Amino acid sequence: MIQSVFPASGPLSGYFRTPGDKSISHRSAILGALAEGTTRVSGYSSAEDCASTLDCLLALGVQIERSDPSLEIHGVGKGSFSEPTTVLPCGNSGTTMRLLLGVLAGMDMYAVLTGDESLSGRPMGRVLEPLWDMGARYDGRLNGRYPPIGIRGRRLWGIKYTTPVASAQIKSALLLAGLRADGETEIVEPAPSRDHTERMLSAMGAQIEWGDRRALLYPSMLNAITINVPADPSSAAFLLGAAIVTPDSEVVARDVCLNPTRTGFLAVLERMGANLSIENQRDEGGEPIGDVRARHSILRATEIGGDEIPALIDEIPLLAVLATQAEDRTVIRDAAELRIKETDRIGVLASALRQMGASVDEREDGLEIHGPAKLHGAEVDPRHDHRLAMSLSVAALVAQGETHVLNAECVGVSYPEYWNDLERLLGREHG
Ligand code: S3P
Repeated sequence: MIQSVFPASGPLSGYFRTPGDKSISHRSAILGALAEGTTRVSGYSSAEDCASTLDCLLALGVQIERSDPSLEIHGVGKGSFSEPTTVLPCGNSGTTMRLLLGVLAGMDMYAVLTGDESLSGRPMGRVLEPLWDMGARYDGRLNGRYPPIGIRGRRLWGIKYTTPVASAQIKSALLLAGLRADGETEIVEPAPSRDHTERMLSAMGAQIEWGDRRALLYPSMLNAITINVPADPSSAAFLLGAAIVTPDSEVVARDVCLNPTRTGFLAVLERMGANLSIENQRDEGGEPIGDVRARHSILRATEIGGDEIPALIDEIPLLAVLATQAEDRTVIRDAAELRIKETDRIGVLASALRQMGASVDEREDGLEIHGPAKLHGAEVDPRHDHRLAMSLSVAALVAQGETHVLNAECVGVSYPEYWNDLERLLGREHG
């Protein structure tokens, strides 16, 4: 599907609630499947990625009752998943594959995990190598490190592991493997990454201690709980960003997860001069949440790098788009991880923004953007990357003339309702 995006002819205004947080949704299903008893989840994300996690768990014999957006997951407790007779379809979802590799590494069975073309090109060695050190055995394409991956689970032992990059997926996979391992599992990271796994494990009764860069887990049984999934800040970022660059706009994102390991982009936006406020702040089920109000703002450039990167890694494409409208030179560094996301987000974004008239230089580990630029509409190809499609749509709102976003249905990977919500806030809703 080609989505035409016209320049905004008026403000964005109103409220919106994005789908449930993608990271928390994946974890609610996987941890619920491991727990003793029935885990009840409300607000499970409508994202295709989160459906992939459910498809895999169903193929592993987990009983799940769905009445969207709620789930009841009957966990296996002391038992095990069933050895799957089909391959486990992870779709586009790196989190599904990496977290499940951690779980399956310690279960006495053989399983094969596959993904789409994008996922098949993403490195799994970062998870598999430490799992090997814990006792797991696997094989895969390209020296065993790329999907499809066949994993043979066995009894594991805990390790102390320092991750080469700050990655919640690596950390979470190893913690999940550590749940049933002999001895404790300790993970140390170069910078803090999102801690939803630690929070949920703790809420389910696991013996776990964690701080900024370190998590220590003792073998634990999990107990079922009730989980209300807050709205996804990484999805909310696009419509908040659209309001910030569109004159006279004011929008409110409701019930957003405000976990500090996820809100780095809000801090950067404030640094850039964005008019933001947080309302109704509260704590629900171990995660801080609140409503985020954003108004049209005049932006200035900033530098983004170092330890703040993991807390805004998924929002960098949007921040780069906003930087095209900011006065002066914005530099994004220490973000080489972006090159191995759903696509090479540095290279693909830089060339699409240049096509629209932006002044963007590509760096090995980031981008340099000179603003403010007068953008013009173009035919842009997000290469099936949901976050690039949404980022480019924000650029299109401030461009002159019509922009065509190719393969625009890819937003369904994280935010299937995106195009409708954008049109509604712009007051362009039909019927
Ligand atoms: C995620 C962790 C991040 C993030 C991804 C979701 C998670 O990836 O980019 O969208 O749910 O754990 P890395 O762990 O590879 O940094």
